[in-house]
Amino acid sequence: MIQVLDLKFKEYITAEQIQARVREIAEELNTKYSGKNPLFLGILNGSFMFIADIFKNVNIPCEVSFLKINSYQDTSSTEKIKELIGLNQSIEGRHVIILEDIVDTGRTLDYILRTVLAQKPASVEVATLLYKPSATIIPVPIHYVGFEIENQFVLGYGLDYNGYGRNSNSILIKVDE
Ligand code: IMP
Repeated sequence: MIQVLDLKFKEYITAEQIQARVREIAEELNTKYSGKNPLFLGILNGSFMFIADIFKNVNIPCEVSFLKINSYQDTSSTEKIKELIGLNQSIEGRHVIILEDIVDTGRTLDYILRTVLAQKPASVEVATLLYKPSATIIPVPIHYVGFEIENQFVLGYGLDYNGYGRNSNSILIKVDE
């Protein structure tokens, strides 16, 4: 059992499982985006490890840029999405691959997709490390899913609980007491 602030967690997805799945997704992207000079759009903060590991395994010419978004408080999603750092380069005509840590209600991704599509990219796909299908409120298109998980709070590998727990190389799941 691992304690983070007032909650208890246990290991759920190991570092080895994450790395193996990230390599598989990167391989698919290498094939699909060969010759397309894609722009990876990483969603901060929670995705920073996923972004880095995908990027290390992508071996085609590409760029990376970041959006910083905040919608979570404590252990639940809120409807108030704050854009803390916006797009700082043009994505018009580019093949954009959005990299998310987790899709929960779908609200954040829906907001991001609307922001991105307004700028007329050539194409947009979404890769998320984690997806909670049973938590969906707004259905959003997702093209690459690392792991489908149950509707329970998780952290680690960049994901946090009120800022803590990001520095675990495996994904941990909350244990009910
Ligand atoms: P959504 O807008 O409800 O889909 O939530 C997406 C965002 O909420 C993600 O990018 C995460 O930052 C955060 N989030 C959702 N579920 C979890 C979780 O189980 N643990 C930590 N953060 C989460």
